[in-house]
Amino acid sequence: MCGIFGIVTQTEQNLGPILVEAARRLTYRGYDSVGAATIKNGVIDLRKDKGRVDEVAEKYKIAEMTGQRGMIQLRWATFGVPSKENSQPHLDSEGKMVGAHNGNVVNNVELREQFMAEGMTVRSQNDGESCVHAVERYVRQGKDMVTAIRMAYDDLQGDYAFVIGLADDDKLYAIKKGSGLVVGIGEGFTCVSSDLPSILPLTRKVIRLNDGDVVTLSADEVALHAVADGSFIAREPEMITDEMSSVQKGGYAHFMLKEIHEQPAVARELLHLLKNNAELPAILGAIRNARNVYLVGCGTSYHACLMGSVYFSQLGARTTIPVLAPQFVPQYLPGANNQDVAFFVSQSGETRDVLKALDAARAVGVTCFSMANVIGSTLTRTTAAWLPLTCGYEISVPATKTFTNQVITFLYLATCLGGKDLTNLMALPELMEKTIAETDPVARELADSINPWQDCYSLGYGATYAIALEGALKLKEVTYAHCEGMLSTEFKHGPLSAVTPGFPVLFSAGKDDVDVIVSGMNEVTCREGRAIAIGAEDSRLRANATDLVTIPASDAMSTPILETIPLQLLSYYMAVGRGYDPDFPRNLSKTLTVD
Ligand code: G6P
Repeated sequence: MCGIFGIVTQTEQNLGPILVEAARRLTYRGYDSVGAATIKNGVIDLRKDKGRVDEVAEKYKIAEMTGQRGMIQLRWATFGVPSKENSQPHLDSEGKMVGAHNGNVVNNVELREQFMAEGMTVRSQNDGESCVHAVERYVRQGKDMVTAIRMAYDDLQGDYAFVIGLADDDKLYAIKKGSGLVVGIGEGFTCVSSDLPSILPLTRKVIRLNDGDVVTLSADEVALHAVADGSFIAREPEMITDEMSSVQKGGYAHFMLKEIHEQPAVARELLHLLKNNAELPAILGAIRNARNVYLVGCGTSYHACLMGSVYFSQLGARTTIPVLAPQFVPQYLPGANNQDVAFFVSQSGETRDVLKALDAARAVGVTCFSMANVIGSTLTRTTAAWLPLTCGYEISVPATKTFTNQVITFLYLATCLGGKDLTNLMALPELMEKTIAETDPVARELADSINPWQDCYSLGYGATYAIALEGALKLKEVTYAHCEGMLSTEFKHGPLSAVTPGFPVLFSAGKDDVDVIVSGMNEVTCREGRAIAIGAEDSRLRANATDLVTIPASDAMSTPILETIPLQLLSYYMAVGRGYDPDFPRNLSKTLTVD
């Protein structure tokens, strides 16, 4: 959610194309507005509006913007509706300073009142503008920019990062507090961004910032100062060696489809790395000996926690408690202590709800572990040990490959905890390949026939319950249709009344639960509803389902992972059939750094 990018060069030049490309590479975070500013001869050129990058760039000719410094921001609305005024960057009162932020300034409303009372010109409701005025407040008192930013930091509550520059200067400045921020160092320029994809096409030499770092960007150097006392921080840049192909579509129509297809390969990589992971014995020991084990996440990652909890029970005889992150504090914190373990699960490693639960758990001495995909994210840096999901970049907002690798990580841990054989697990990537090849054409056809409906259900039972919930979430995220996920046996306790002729109900059938699923399907079909079963070939499913999507035969614990794939494909093809962009669904954000 929200993304910022800023660049400082030696001479005035056409920065527009660089800014537009940087913005495109931040779009995976989700956004509703776009704005760019360049600074040329001491004059700020600011162009912004709500809309997509390409629309706003074209309307305001952003590619033509020139300057010695530039910044671009993608906004995902929290404070203030999506509009031109609330778009970022923002100017200070006199139009002599420009800045943009990512994150959430929680005392924005109070601050705006203070700024107005102090005679400043406040033009929007947006909290990014508060970052600019908070700095302006101290620049007006004659402070230099680094000092002014350090003082503004004390006034701005919440988690954020911002980039800011004075018209009459040749530098940009930025600060990180809670939200991600990375610096890039190139030949004759330096840049700063919320994330790596917008930096890597320009340079592979980067410095990852920590919370409390204030950075001064000049064309040929960067300087880091500590927000607390202004002291100079020495930090060596690192070279990024990731393959850039992972941030391009590689021939697929959308990132979502590419990422679905990448699942077998990233699962293989994950299993390989887990085998050699030095942290595992300690993590398993802690899980084995803990009084309570909590598995904590949000959205798709929470569904992985539900799945993990089934695996720990089935394979390790270990009861674990899956928790929606914001419920951790009210529901479990009062009883949590240093004999407990909590496993925090997140694709981004930055989800605010998850980080808040983590802080609370750590404060009472809970041993905290994590799994995340984004290396260097807050979660990975603040837990006792973390397991990388090794998926490479996941650009599409709906999580696909990160979900399957979260589930596989849990399956691996549970298998090891129970001292069980890993053979089935090691065969999984190949079965995933087969599943994609066999279910893709079926999902494509199904999508067309389900698309006229605005409502459907996705049901599972036992080991497939979490998968049914995840299938429903995926469908909702990208098709904008309503799809409710639930335990199949609950359907008769109310939702059955929704069934009319042809009404679509998806059933994810677990290997050991076919009879329960069949009875649920019959409740639907005898009311002329449409029961669409997903499962391995089985005469009972074939005889009772209206449609059967067959997945390769596998063991009971692998089946849910394979069934995830046709559900992802179905959502994808339904979204495309409806004319929506599945990579960037409206209103959603890949990295939710707000409450
Ligand atoms: C957002 C995304 C969801 C995601 C959730 C948790 O809401 O839109 O797709 O599942 O955050 O994200 P995380 O990065 O913690 O896995």
